[in-house]
Amino acid sequence: MPDKPVPADYAVMPLSKARLLDQMVKKNFMPAILSTVRQIIEDYGDLKGVCLDVGCGTAVFAIELCRRSDLKIYAVEKTKSICEIACANIKSEGLTNRIIPVIGDAHHLPFENEIADLVISRGSYHCWQAKVLVFQEIYRTLKKGGIGFVGGGFGRYVGKEESDRMRGLRDLSLKDDAKVYSQPNELEAIVRQAGILNFRIIFDESGLWAELRK
Ligand SMILES: C[S@@+](CC[C@H](N)C(=O)[O-])C[C@H]1O[C@@H](n2cnc3c(N)ncnc32)[C@H](O)[C@@H]1O
Repeated sequence: MPDKPVPADYAVMPLSKARLLDQMVKKNFMPAILSTVRQIIEDYGDLKGVCLDVGCGTAVFAIELCRRSDLKIYAVEKTKSICEIACANIKSEGLTNRIIPVIGDAHHLPFENEIADLVISRGSYHCWQAKVLVFQEIYRTLKKGGIGFVGGGFGRYVGKEESDRMRGLRDLSLKDDAKVYSQPNELEAIVRQAGILNFRIIFDESGLWAELRK
């Protein structure tokens, strides 16, 4: 039986709770992480240059993306204790030269304009207080020719059984927040309000995503 998810309180989180979240992700959600990384690599080709992972959690996703690409990844996380676990994970995987943990808020990304070839954000969207502002920040940091992939879901390479299992756990953990991942019209309106013209909303078995192009 999988562990019950730990309800997240991201404002201030004791290190012990951040550690439990990390274990829960590794135990229960690896198929989703691997599937989404595979989808990104298949859709966007050989990935190199600079990537921002916004709301990176304990960097499990960033580590898998890094292993399968030539990206240098800035892994941005606002919760200090979660960032501490991310640092430990990156170190134990020997990737400290390729993944740089950054404590920062998605609403005020601590980066200059047009620094990133790719901005990825998976499963953080539901947390953002001012979603339009975060999309503006993501677009600001994208280079011309860059790609943003922002939303949530399990990627298209998980089977139905696995997907149902993870969806049950996710919805329990996120409660009402999980509903935002079934509202493509709302996501589209937010991206438009952010002033982004070149985008596509993906709402299929892979989840709900905004693909941004600059
Ligand atoms: C469900 S986790 C997803 C982690 C990771 N992206 C993944 O796919 O496994 C969402 C993360 O977003 C972070 N987060 C929420 N709001 C944020 C913000 N405004 N700025 C930066 N990180 C944020 C949370 O602290 C949490 O670690």
